[in-house]
Amino acid sequence: MLATQIDVATRQQLLERVSDARRRSDALFNIVRSDSMYDRPIPERHRIIFYVGHLEAFDWNLLHENVLGLKSFHTEFDRLFAFGIDPVGGRLPSDQPSDWPSLEAVRDYVTAIRTALDEKLADGRLESYGQTRDGFPLDTLLNVAIEHRLMHVETLAYMLHQLPLDRKVPQGNLSSLVALPVDHQMISIPAGTATLGLPRGGETFGWDNEYETHTVHVPAFEIDQYEVTTRQYLEFMAAGGYETRAFWSDDDWNWKSAHAVSHPVFWIKAGDGWQYRTMFEEVPLPLDWPVYVSHAEAAAYARWAGKLLPTEEQWHRAAYGTEEKTERSYPWGNQAPTSSLGNFDFQHWSPTPVNAFPAGRSAFGIDDLLGNGWEWTSTVFAPFPGFEPFPFYRGYSADFFDGKHFVMKGGSPRTAPCMLRPTFRNWFQAHYQYVYAGFRCVNH
Ligand code: AVJ
Ligand code: FE
Repeated sequence: MLATQIDVATRQQLLERVSDARRRSDALFNIVRSDSMYDRPIPERHRIIFYVGHLEAFDWNLLHENVLGLKSFHTEFDRLFAFGIDPVGGRLPSDQPSDWPSLEAVRDYVTAIRTALDEKLADGRLESYGQTRDGFPLDTLLNVAIEHRLMHVETLAYMLHQLPLDRKVPQGNLSSLVALPVDHQMISIPAGTATLGLPRGGETFGWDNEYETHTVHVPAFEIDQYEVTTRQYLEFMAAGGYETRAFWSDDDWNWKSAHAVSHPVFWIKAGDGWQYRTMFEEVPLPLDWPVYVSHAEAAAYARWAGKLLPTEEQWHRAAYGTEEKTERSYPWGNQAPTSSLGNFDFQHWSPTPVNAFPAGRSAFGIDDLLGNGWEWTSTVFAPFPGFEPFPFYRGYSADFFDGKHFVMKGGSPRTAPCMLRPTFRNWFQAHYQYVYAGFRCVNH
């Protein structure tokens, strides 16, 4: 794109989305009691304070020099807050609260960065910083900043979920929907094609791992109409699912044994039954919600049921395919997401029953594909043919092409609508239990 062809209305919309995303992340940190900002709710991850600095350091490192020609005023923080951690193999961080700067200093850094970026972005002479040295338009980088922040708004919710209830300030709508009893069945999907990925040079923003577009043939298969519910998962547990070696891969069994995992991480033992811990409350186990588990637990359930997890291609075809050759933009059609089509876009803190959104059903009759929890696939996260890392963020995806991360599709109650596009690919390691992710099964 030529620097002179900048669309001012598009730019203005992007700047508004930056502000909206900042409001979302600010609101999320308001959940944390101020004496808990140095807590580490998930042992493998950074303390909460890191993320306060990270969201701004990320935007700054991305934009300040490459496109805006601004000079850093706090290079130490720019580096300290540059990257999160995703350790594979069980090594835990050992830093102390006193290793981190004061909350006041971090908040001053955040304010200074927002002020500097906003001044520059609002100065009107857009053409003077229309693109990066590598020829990427500023608009692409703004999308990267927006989606990066919104992804953290979601993954931080997983983290704050693990913070003890008395360390949080409850907010928002805690209610959940009541639906009819769930009538589980499998739906036949005829053989056909799935078009994955984005074409280069198109209008839609996508991350590096979404390129390039390619069409794959998907043989006929059957898939669960609904996500696997808590009620179904209890049957797996009653059948000795966690104790039966044959249901688990070597790696998953070793992990499960080493960490004494014997139930979903969102469940709490209460007498001889279970309670469920939502973001702000403990409630009786909600039997018709999708069960949130790690990939390892989902795969063990599938093996117990004599089924498999869907591949990324199967999931895509079930969600977007039709009896004709065409594909839809969303499971329900081409209409943009609204609150009656699924549990996404921050409407709820918790899942809803798996049959609560019949209006969101796909052409083949599959419910709840977008929202209400990401869905694990059996596909190892790997590049599409023609993959190129973004030169301004080389490690975003490439650092995770290690055979240990699996593709998740769909979205959760805390997923922003911009990431409900068909090509968006999410991923986590098989043993990460804290994700808002469930699954459905396919036949052999
Ligand atoms: C795409 C959600 C797996 O949180 O690990 C945020 C997104 N990458 N900062 C993650 C991300 C760097 C990433 N996921
Ligand atoms: Fe990040």
